[in-house]
Amino acid sequence: MTTKQVKTVNVGLGDRAYDIFVGPQLIANAGAHLKPLLKRNRVAIVTDENVAKLHLATLEASLTAAGITATHYILPAGEKTKTFEHLQNLCAHLLDKGVERGDLVVALGGGVIGDLTGFAASILRRGVDFAQIPTTLLAQVDSSVGGKTGINVPQGKNLIGAFHQPRIVLADTDAIQTLPAREFRAGYAEVVKYGLLGDAGFFDWLEANVERLMNGDIDALTHAILTSCKAKARIVAEDEREGGKRALLNLGHTFGHALEATTGFSDRLIHGEGVAIGMVMAFDLSVQLGFCSGQDATRAAKHLEKAGLPTRLRDIPGTIGTPQELIDLMAQDKKVVDGTLTFILARAIGNAFITREVANSDLLTFMTAQETA
Ligand code: NAD
Ligand code: GLY
Repeated sequence: MTTKQVKTVNVGLGDRAYDIFVGPQLIANAGAHLKPLLKRNRVAIVTDENVAKLHLATLEASLTAAGITATHYILPAGEKTKTFEHLQNLCAHLLDKGVERGDLVVALGGGVIGDLTGFAASILRRGVDFAQIPTTLLAQVDSSVGGKTGINVPQGKNLIGAFHQPRIVLADTDAIQTLPAREFRAGYAEVVKYGLLGDAGFFDWLEANVERLMNGDIDALTHAILTSCKAKARIVAEDEREGGKRALLNLGHTFGHALEATTGFSDRLIHGEGVAIGMVMAFDLSVQLGFCSGQDATRAAKHLEKAGLPTRLRDIPGTIGTPQELIDLMAQDKKVVDGTLTFILARAIGNAFITREVANSDLLTFMTAQETA
């Protein structure tokens, strides 16, 4: 095992603490990492059709080499899989395969597989353990860490779910090499998020290294993944259930989720792209309300554009909802309190804050202006 190149980040949650491993060949060596977590030598793998073709055989070979028996369940790829129907089928499969309390369910895939599998694990027999093997950049820097799991419903995104922490995260940097360019860029939006919300120095580093990152330079990528995971682990350890500070991780998400909903959770706009546009909108709203300089908002937008991400409503193909319809979609956000929306705004790059003080009239003015921005 190339242990020298593998780095770890601990998520400090007391008796539910776990390590995130970041580095090469972690799928090929997963058996050795998972074995100490098992009460009996069997696991249930959940993955999607794209990841199965590319990485399932490697995982299964590694488990076999470690003396672990594995079943697998392959779901369709994409956001539309995060539904009650697939959850029900997955739970039925896991029960049919005799998964018991004390067994480990392994999510091999991007955020869709991680969220759905983690939720199934949280409710199966009132909770079984699960491991995350994230294969997208987005899942490695964000969704596999922190224990948010769930599915989408017609009322909105991630509205049904549970907090259920994984026992381990294996972020294999080799897996990213097979990622389509668009998915890679979408994941990069979540990397940029950590700089924008709380680490101006990291944002400077991203600006200086964007070409290396976009060209897949493995050292640069590993640094970006580790920095992102450390930032997320720190916040999750402080505020696991989003009583306060964790909401900062939703920078751009209130807008982004509404945009995903208005495009029908389709390929027109994938999650990270919605987050990119949403973060630019959050900075623009911060400028409109007098919190942030226009220079910082422009700098944030330019960096995301340079990474090839959409940054404006006009970048979304096809028609989207009216300003009022988008506001109505935002009102389904989990962070609504007494009907008031919570926004993550910014005073500067690296200095985001949480507010419930955005007046409805200001929001409508803002959304109307965004239509032509
Ligand atoms: P995804 O899981 O749909 O993966 C994107 C695409 O890449 C899919 O088609 C998938 O099959 C493919 N893919 C995955 N790994 C691959 C690989 N190594 N090589 C080639 N193709 C590969 O999407 P995502 O962007 O990873 O995750 C988005 C989801 O994550 C959204 O549902 C979002 O709500 C959720 N999310 C959750 C959290 C959380 O804290 N739980 C945080 C952020 C996002
Ligand atoms: N992606 C937001 C969170 O984990 O809190």
